[in-house]
Amino acid sequence: MAEPILEVRDLVKHYPLTQGVLFKKQVGAVKAVDGVSFTLAKGETLGIVGESGCGKSTLAKVLMNLERATAGQVLYKGEDISRLSGAALKAVRRNIQMVFQDPYTSLNPRMTVGDIIGEPFEIHPEVAPKGDRRKAVQDLLDVVGLNPEYINRYPHQFSGGQRQRIGIARGLALKPEIIICDEPVSALDVSVQAQVINLLEQLQGEFELSYMFIAHDLSIVRHISDRVGVMYLGRMVEIGTDAEIYEHATHPYTQALLSAVPVPDPTGREGRERIILSGDIPSPANPPSGCRFRTRCWKAEERCATEVPLLAAPTLLTGDARHDSACHFAAEREVAAA
Ligand SMILES: Nc1ncnc2c1ncn2[C@@H]1O[C@H](COP(=O)(O)OP(=O)(O)O)[C@@H](O)[C@H]1O
Ligand SMILES: [Mg+2]
Repeated sequence: MAEPILEVRDLVKHYPLTQGVLFKKQVGAVKAVDGVSFTLAKGETLGIVGESGCGKSTLAKVLMNLERATAGQVLYKGEDISRLSGAALKAVRRNIQMVFQDPYTSLNPRMTVGDIIGEPFEIHPEVAPKGDRRKAVQDLLDVVGLNPEYINRYPHQFSGGQRQRIGIARGLALKPEIIICDEPVSALDVSVQAQVINLLEQLQGEFELSYMFIAHDLSIVRHISDRVGVMYLGRMVEIGTDAEIYEHATHPYTQALLSAVPVPDPTGREGRERIILSGDIPSPANPPSGCRFRTRCWKAEERCATEVPLLAAPTLLTGDARHDSACHFAAEREVAAA
């Protein structure tokens, strides 16, 4: 495995819940991200999947330092960047960029695409000195498959897919090493999604990028991810190589997500049953004790309410397989397979 370019340790982001208008009193906290750890290797794509509200965007914002972590560490090449500010933060930010979900609202309608894509150069003029900017922006348009002559047009003159290309060009402007893509194709037509994903893959090879690719279902990240992490209610419940997650998921939540999407089954096993989860996702302000998934889990037993399952590797993995699962019953498959 290549060295990790990013290492996240026990990351926590709680949003205070306050009451009262004049004297705001904290009455609780939304535990949006609540103890998440993982690594991202150089050149790797890590897919992050989970239902709406499980903390994916919050995780991305904390990694980007757009939101301050409540606790935990974000190591970029071994240095904790989660508490940086000023010039040190600015220097790190250059290397970690984000592509946002909605290309309809994330681009300022009053700016030309040239100004949108070139805006990061205002903050980091060393990347493209003033006289070179127009050319730099045109090169970026070309790189993402848009006509460089469109530089003076406005966002509304482009289709959704083209707008997301503009967002990607902007994300590439500072030549980052890591791009966090937060549901970059969720707002696009299905026919356009594959084109944007293909572009991201092509750019990854060209610029040696490491990606975190956030999505709300497993079918979208399958094609692009080397590893996949599954989140539930602020926690990572399962993470592993592509093959491990799609063929040997051991966490009931992952199994339920897999059963809900038409994923081709490479083992040829027919008749995988659709698992319908009962109930709603509990509130992140008041998550269940023990295993957070237990209130919707068909395997739950008493210990699930009292013991927090650790995200741990089963013992019998061989070769390149890596796979951690936060379920008390996760060892069952490995034991059965041995
Ligand atoms: N600024 C905020 N203040 C309070 N709660 C927030 C804030 N941002 C997000 N949340 C809450 O945190 C939880 C996780 O949200 P989010 O990270 O956006 O999830 P996802 O991207 O997976 O849909 C949700 O319950 C959401 O309502
Ligand atoms: Mg989100």
